[in-house]
Amino acid sequence: MPLFQSSSTKLTLLQKVPLFEGLSQRQLRLIAQLADEVDIPAGKRLATAGETGHEFFVIVDGHVAVKIRTGRTVRLGPGDVFGEMSLIDGGPRSATVEATTPLRLLVVGHREFWQLLAEAPPIAHTIMRTLCRRLRDAEAAPTA
Ligand code: CMP
Repeated sequence: MPLFQSSSTKLTLLQKVPLFEGLSQRQLRLIAQLADEVDIPAGKRLATAGETGHEFFVIVDGHVAVKIRTGRTVRLGPGDVFGEMSLIDGGPRSATVEATTPLRLLVVGHREFWQLLAEAPPIAHTIMRTLCRRLRDAEAAPTA
């Protein structure tokens, strides 16, 4: 499997990602240009709490473990996103994220992330909803 797919193969893949549902063909073509499709082996660390973050990730296939500083671990899978927090506020990674299975990811760099949100507002809405849900979950979680 090549590391980066041709743009037509990538377009077919993007159409199956829930985050991109309802977007126009023009928006999907732009995302195909902005996002790299990458296959990652199980066990690889994708973000380290406290370090600077440079990428935003969309899980196409596979699962990751998000190890939050409180000691809690959250499992994310197909359709979920991570890495948005550091790109939005410029702060360090809030959690360590590791692949628990082989992964297929869409990876978006910092500059491309803002371009993506500007060009496809529904993605910005989904990310805002995700942030709100994570905040509510974090507040509802029992303290260690
Ligand atoms: P970021 O802080 O850039 O890097 C670590 C990522 O873990 C973070 O962005 C979120 O995408 C994700 N993350 C942090 N806290 C939670 C949580 N409570 N539930 C799910 N994902 C989280």
